[in-house]
Amino acid sequence: MITIRNLHKSYMVGGKRVEVLKGIDLSIEEGAMVAIMGRSGSGKSTLLNIIAGLDKGDNGEYLYRGQNLSNKTLNELANFRRDKIGFILQNYALCDTKNVFDNIALPLKYRKYPESKIQAQVKGVLEDLEMTEVVDKSIDTLSGGEMQRIAIARAIVQDPEIILADEPTGSLDEKTEEGILAIFKQLNKQGKTIIIVTHDQQVANICDETIYIKDGRSSTPKITSSC
Ligand SMILES: Nc1ncnc2c1ncn2[C@@H]1O[C@H](COP(=O)(O)OP(=O)(O)O)[C@@H](O)[C@H]1O
Ligand SMILES: [Mg+2]
Repeated sequence: MITIRNLHKSYMVGGKRVEVLKGIDLSIEEGAMVAIMGRSGSGKSTLLNIIAGLDKGDNGEYLYRGQNLSNKTLNELANFRRDKIGFILQNYALCDTKNVFDNIALPLKYRKYPESKIQAQVKGVLEDLEMTEVVDKSIDTLSGGEMQRIAIARAIVQDPEIILADEPTGSLDEKTEEGILAIFKQLNKQGKTIIIVTHDQQVANICDETIYIKDGRSSTPKITSSC
């Protein structure tokens, strides 16, 4: 589903070019559940943002279902992202001034869905996640685990082909983390391809495969945990 070859990415920091990704190679099969691990600052979020079409590599190839995205503009990538990707950003990135319903409805409003369809889809996803009782609540009254469920709801409400999550359990206690991981596992069982950036081995353990980033390069060890 995803093939990345020799991907490089650098940032200008204080007038100096710092290379973060120095030749990433990876491939992700449709229906897989993959963890991306590496130290803080190793470039995990940078890589996930490029996969999401939020950013572009400097060079190298990014193929999505055989389509070369490397030469697309960021504008063109915005359409790709809207149509294919469900992105769960670090620290939820929910809109505090809107209630739960309006947060989840956002991607559907962006796509100009009719109001009746928006109502039905938001209701459906809240039922799936057993969160119907918080539909009218404001975001700042929710617990961390509830906020993460709402961020997941917003990411999956438009039925994306692939779900990307950046440190989705980073600020949750262990029990809440288990609940969130169970949701990802369930989505994967339903056929969604999932990529999770994490530094938590427990998260990696429930994935089929782990890709490590070190010194700007990727590796996929032969021995991986799965369940
Ligand atoms: N927009 C940016 N401008 C400059 N440097 C950045 C930018 N984004 C990330 N970096 C730097 O790139 C490196 C990798 O960042 P990141 O991808 O966020 O790592 P990780 O998610 O693995 O912690 C870090 O050193 C970070 O400071
Ligand atoms: Mg990060």
